[in-house]
Amino acid sequence: MIRPYGEAAIEAAAALIAAGEPVAVPTETVYGLAADATNGAAVASIYAAKGRPSFNPLIVHVETIEAAEKIAYFSYQARVLAKAHWPGPLTLVLPVREGSGIASLVTAGLSTIAIRMPAHPAMQALLKAVGKPLAAPSANASGSISPTRAEHVMRSLSGRIPMIIDGGACSVGLESTIVAVDADGLRLLRPGPVDLGLTLWTGGSVESPGQLASHYAPTKPLRLNAVSADVDEWLIGFGAIVGDATLSSNGDISEAAANLFAALHEADASSKEGIAVAPIPNTGLGAAINDRLSRAAY
Ligand code: TXA
Ligand code: MG
Repeated sequence: MIRPYGEAAIEAAAALIAAGEPVAVPTETVYGLAADATNGAAVASIYAAKGRPSFNPLIVHVETIEAAEKIAYFSYQARVLAKAHWPGPLTLVLPVREGSGIASLVTAGLSTIAIRMPAHPAMQALLKAVGKPLAAPSANASGSISPTRAEHVMRSLSGRIPMIIDGGACSVGLESTIVAVDADGLRLLRPGPVDLGLTLWTGGSVESPGQLASHYAPTKPLRLNAVSADVDEWLIGFGAIVGDATLSSNGDISEAAANLFAALHEADASSKEGIAVAPIPNTGLGAAINDRLSRAAY
């Protein structure tokens, strides 16, 4: 399960990722749990492995600045930052490009996306071998600290992921600096290895910087555990409950997670006044789906 970083390990990891599996891989900051960012079900498998009780937007890792520009809109200021600090431990939060192909579970339905070009040769080799952007949160179970060695990942996620690439200890050992770049300028969402002389933006929650700004919720009233639509409601179905759209017609929780944010956007954009959602079993990823839905519900 743990394989030393090298050509063979990268090839095997790329094959797993192409098959929709998550793989733990070192970056210069911490080990990441990487999956194909364009495959919603693969991204759902990251959450399943981490046992994350809710969906937070993830960082997308890219091989080149050109690849990043295909995913997000870079202002002049964003481009200057990328050129100065990439590859390296700086994550930029930028407006996501329509038609980027990134799964909506990666951005958790937001119109912005967190993106960085990592410096570690193992992650760079994996990006090159896969040929797609990789979504990767830190490779630890929810609630435990970020791993900076393959053994840390093993201790936290053993049996829950198919492979860990061992690239030794991470040279930086601290998660990337996160900066949002928009028309108002720069906002530091998470302090980290790259010091831009900014003070932490406090518009978000104290507990987890940037979180408040990083929660998508529909604008319409949302009703949970609905078995049918009321007057003027758009019903999001699941399993036997069909609805106007469905998270998963065969009751597959992972498929439901992958479809969640796109389904909420579709419901929000419909001509109906309200949104109803069928009951989702509260097991595994279902708990994360229900957490997000209950936050969005009135
Ligand atoms: O160094 C790192 O950044 C590591 C390695 C693996 O690259 N990754 C990492 O990911 O720390 P994670 O998932 O543990 O932290 C990602 C952070 C979260 O706090 C999340 O809320 C924030 O990035 N984030 C992602 N997208 C965002 C967005 N669109 N707006 C605001 N915050 C965002
Ligand atoms: Mg983390």
